Amino acid sequence: MTRTPLVAANWKMHKTAGEAEAFVAALLPRLSSAGADVALCPPFTALAAVVDSARGSALQVLAQNVHEAEQGAYTGEVSIPMLADLGVQGAIVGHSERRQYFCESDRALQLKVPALLAAGLLPLLCVGETEEEREAHDTERKLRHQVQEALAGVNDDRLADVAIAYEPIWAIGTGKVATPDQAQEAIAFIRALVGGRDAGAGERVRILYGGSVSPDNAAELLALPDVDGALVGGASLDAASFAAIVASLPG
Ligand code: 13P
Repeated sequence: MTRTPLVAANWKMHKTAGEAEAFVAALLPRLSSAGADVALCPPFTALAAVVDSARGSALQVLAQNVHEAEQGAYTGEVSIPMLADLGVQGAIVGHSERRQYFCESDRALQLKVPALLAAGLLPLLCVGETEEEREAHDTERKLRHQVQEALAGVNDDRLADVAIAYEPIWAIGTGKVATPDQAQEAIAFIRALVGGRDAGAGERVRILYGGSVSPDNAAELLALPDVDGALVGGASLDAASFAAIVASLPG
């Protein structure tokens, strides 16, 4: 089974629209990613600028969050039709920073993931354990809970249209990257969870690694059998660094 790898840049709360345009101009000539999907996830305020700058290229544009309702009295939120109207192709959902600081719940994810799929957008679902959970050998219990809950509203025939990012929280922004064994083991476990719902979907679903990915460690992580790409935070803010990570994809 060949899965198209995905390398995505999660800029978090970085870059104005102007800075985002300059990044795309610097990135495009550096990309030679035939056979892989490459996505930028800018803040809402830079989405339109990135969609415009990326037009005519294969670069994909995803938001970092989205609300599950089509519209309504939800001050400060952005809907899926609003993203689709801009030409945005998907959204990160369930990032640990949103779960931790903004009370993103499994219940909301149960609505967000199928709503994105129904609109033809890519949900990039983030899951991962804390350091305490890993030390308490609770990693699998946590991943099982997060994956089961977030995918509960997705029909088996759409499971493979979700992309999942395994991001151990202790590896995010810490420089403390998961070892290849840890990344492979957790991602194979997540694949088995999806495979438990539907065997074919388990084979086809793309599962990325995220957490302190850098040009120095990307090749080793991206070569792992179950790792289908990377979700990159800090090292994605510089075009040369992000392009080097994309270039680390095997063959
Ligand atoms: P870092 O690459 O900065 O550790 O961030 C990872 C992340 O949270 C991507 O979503």
